[in-house]
Amino acid sequence: RWWDVTAEEDATAEKSLQEAAAVLAAGGTVAFPTETVYGLGADARNTEAVEAIFEAKGRPSDNPLIVHIAEMSQLEGLVAAVGETERRLMEAFWPGPLTLVLPVLNGAVSPRVTAGLSTVAVRMPAHDVALRLIAAAGCPVAAPSANRSGRPSPTLASHVGEDLTGRIDGIVDGGPTGVGVESTVIEVGRDGGITVLRPGGITAEQLARFTQAGVRLDAALQQPAAGGAEASPAAPRAPGMKYTHYAPKGVMRLVRGAAADKVAARIAAELGAAKARGEKTGVLAFDEHLPLYRADCVQSLGSEAELETAAHRLYAALRRFDECGVTCILAETCPETGLGAAVMNRLMKAAGHRVIEVD
Ligand code: TXA
Ligand code: MG
Repeated sequence: RWWDVTAEEDATAEKSLQEAAAVLAAGGTVAFPTETVYGLGADARNTEAVEAIFEAKGRPSDNPLIVHIAEMSQLEGLVAAVGETERRLMEAFWPGPLTLVLPVLNGAVSPRVTAGLSTVAVRMPAHDVALRLIAAAGCPVAAPSANRSGRPSPTLASHVGEDLTGRIDGIVDGGPTGVGVESTVIEVGRDGGITVLRPGGITAEQLARFTQAGVRLDAALQQPAAGGAEASPAAPRAPGMKYTHYAPKGVMRLVRGAAADKVAARIAAELGAAKARGEKTGVLAFDEHLPLYRADCVQSLGSEAELETAAHRLYAALRRFDECGVTCILAETCPETGLGAAVMNRLMKAAGHRVIEVD
């Protein structure tokens, strides 16, 4: 089923949401929009329903799911304890793109949701359609991003269709998502310090105002040295972070350096060389430099001065490269401050950590 709630009158949209919620309540899988990316939802308490998510995505079973709630009252039934800092973070950022890892209440969700961990990741999405759907379903909704494992997360309902048609019970089309990259996943330590397990829509700078003990990045996410091939040796605390996500089919490389003109010259040269080798080329760059590049598929990240646009466009751009059959992709980088941390984390993954340093 495809419920298009953007094109519908209020009353019809409400009926669609009720139908989709009934599918969820009955143990089905339904994709729905959130403010970050589309999620693939199922009743978090229903093991069979949760298994259908893993099956549809082709997701490794050791990778736990985020549980989505629509009201604070749902939290009590899910977690064993909420600390002071966590409470203040929820008040500040929920509904919104912040996921908190908390001690799970025994038996509250299927063990498949937590992948056997003693914690559960919870968030309340800031999206009217998501909130109404979850409330109507009347259950906590486990929902990973609604892509096939290894594909970029979906920021349009059509992306979900590309990856999951025939594998799930329905899609609620709520139009394009907002933020465009996933939620920030955090854990609050005993000392009140915040560990970012996955950078995302809420920035480290925003979180820092809520702790005296500091915000740190999970050690496993510290980027390996340039040219280092695979993931870092430490096991990430968010199991999902160890998988190479978001990789386009073509070989992607990032070009980084302090001097913008030298970076641009290097990208232009690499594109030229690739073209000469007979490759189909792609470039992912900010508007300020886009006119300098010639490639078969040119994708804009918007202005350098506005990384919200880069986050919003990133996944759709990666999907476009695949559609164009591009074999060699060059991409610019951005500073790792603010939303740039999440954008760079996704770019590094998409590029398999291949970075050309220009000085
Ligand atoms: O924005 C988002 O968070 C989207 C939308 C749909 O809400 N969802 C999403 O889910 O990105 P997913 O499954 O693609 O990513 C969940 C991440 C994974 O890296 C997973 O390992 C981590 O959260 N995670 C889930 N439960 C965890 C837990 N108990 N402890 C540590 N990490 C956990
Ligand atoms: Mg995902």
